[in-house]
Formats: sequence, structure tokens, C-alpha cells
Amino acid sequence: MFRFLRDHGVIERNVVLMAVLTVITISIGGLVQVVPLFAVETTIERVGGVRPYTPLELAGREIYVREGCYTCHSQMVRPFRDEAERYGHYSLAAESMYDRPFQWGSKRTGPDLARVGGRYSDDWHAAHLRHPRLLVPESVMPPYAFLDRPLDYSDISDRLATLRRLGVPYTAEMVANARADLEAQARPANDATAMQGRYARARQGAFDGDPRSITEMDALIAYLQMLGTLVDFRAVTPAELRQQ
Ligand code: HEC
Repeated sequence: MFRFLRDHGVIERNVVLMAVLTVITISIGGLVQVVPLFAVETTIERVGGVRPYTPLELAGREIYVREGCYTCHSQMVRPFRDEAERYGHYSLAAESMYDRPFQWGSKRTGPDLARVGGRYSDDWHAAHLRHPRLLVPESVMPPYAFLDRPLDYSDISDRLATLRRLGVPYTAEMVANARADLEAQARPANDATAMQGRYARARQGAFDGDPRSITEMDALIAYLQMLGTLVDFRAVTPAELRQQ
């Protein structure tokens, strides 16, 4: 016991030894926290209804990221009463498990968008994106009317394939049909049955109001309209939520 106290003095007087032992001690602490996470299959509890994005939604999400919408909008309803009353059920980890990169954020110049899906009509979104101040006179959101240009989706299969390699459960069939599925969702005249068989609850529509051409606006609105709508909270059991 006293010998230990005496030896301890050796460590305290030797900076290098002290640093080495400190690093070893902290590393053990870190390993204890991190290693068990490799043993569990996933740290995110799966919740029914969450599926990968449809090709059109994925293209819309990429426009959302490209345009920096996240600099003003978060996508995470925090578990506080005021937030839940304003936006709806607090966000679950599973709801953004296929997001690369995630869009949680804490900067809210505009409202949180995690549950904006279905809150407004497609027409409202198109008009708002083109000229936010026509609908909300005091808005500081910039206009995005230029998104009425054609969507370039020539590489959409490759994008799905890349995400698949990263672990998003896109099937080979989804990758092969990405282009057709994207067109089926954005063109109401196309048959959407196969697309909807692959992506549950995917809505077909002429999102920007023009059913003829597929624009960046179509993709962005399709994405906004599905945000936060995949999980049916009447069907989720309290046990599933407790695990979150
Ligand atoms: C400079 C900050 C800023 C940027 C960038 C921005 N927004 Fe906004 N956004 C706002 C503000 C402020 C509001 C609230 C006023 C309004 O509705 O226009 C808003 C409102 C919204 C709403 C309505 C939300 C609701 O619940 O009422 C949507 C949808 C939206 N923005 C989407 C987008 C998208 C998509 C982009 C990127 C293309 C974007 N915003 C970029 C500031 C911004």
C-alpha cells in the first residue's frame, strides 16, 4: 500500500511516463464504450414502415443537400412537448437510418422539416419554392424557381447501387428498375404498380403541377412530401419506442 504511493511519485515526476500511462488508461475507457457496439447487429432499433427512398425521392434529397436547405432547416423533432405539439411525434433514429449524410441539424432559420410530408399540398410546395413571399410575406427563404428545369437522372441506378454497397437495403431489382421507377412516380400516366410494390406507400403525382416533364422541382417536392410519413405512429408499440 505505502509502496504503491511511493511508486506513484515516480509517475508524477516523469512527464513521458505519465503521458503514456494516461493514454493507455483513456484507451481502455474508450474501448469499453465502443467495442460492445460492434457486437450488436445495429444500434438502431428497426421500426415498421421505414424503407429506403424511392429513386425520385432520392434525387429530391440530393437537390435538398445541393441547395443547402439544411443551412436553414433541421430534420429532427426533439422529444420536448413544445416541439411535439408543433411538429408531431418526436423523430426516431430509425427514420433517418438511410440518410447519408443525415440532416438532423440544430440551425432553424426556418421550421423543422422532419414531418412536413403531407402537411401542405403539392401545389403549395411548388408555389412556395418558386416564391416563398407570395405565400408567407415575411419569409426570408430564397426563391428556388430555377428548379423548374429538367431533372438529370441518367445516373440514378448507380446512385442506388452506391447506397446499396454502403448497406442501404436496395435490392438488385430496385437498382435495375431505378429509372423506370423514377419515371413511374413522376408521371401519373405511367403504371405505378410495380414501383409501389417495391416502395411501400410511395405516392405517384405530378408534383410540380406539370405531368409532362420531370423536373428538379418534382423530385424535391416528392422528397418533402414523404418526410416523416413512413412510420404509422398509431401502429408502433410503446415497447418499440422505449428502445429508441
Ligand atoms: C435562408 C434560410 C432558408 C433556406 C436556405 C431555405 N429555407 Fe425554407 N424556410 C425558411 C423560412 C424562414 C421559412 C418559414 C417561412 C416560410 O414558410 O417561407 C421556411 C419555410 C419552409 C417550408 C415550409 C415549412 C412549414 O412547416 O411551414 C418548407 C417546406 C421549406 N422552407 C423548404 C425549403 C427547401 C426545400 C429549401 C431548399 C431548397 C429551403 N427551404 C431553403 C428559410 C429558409
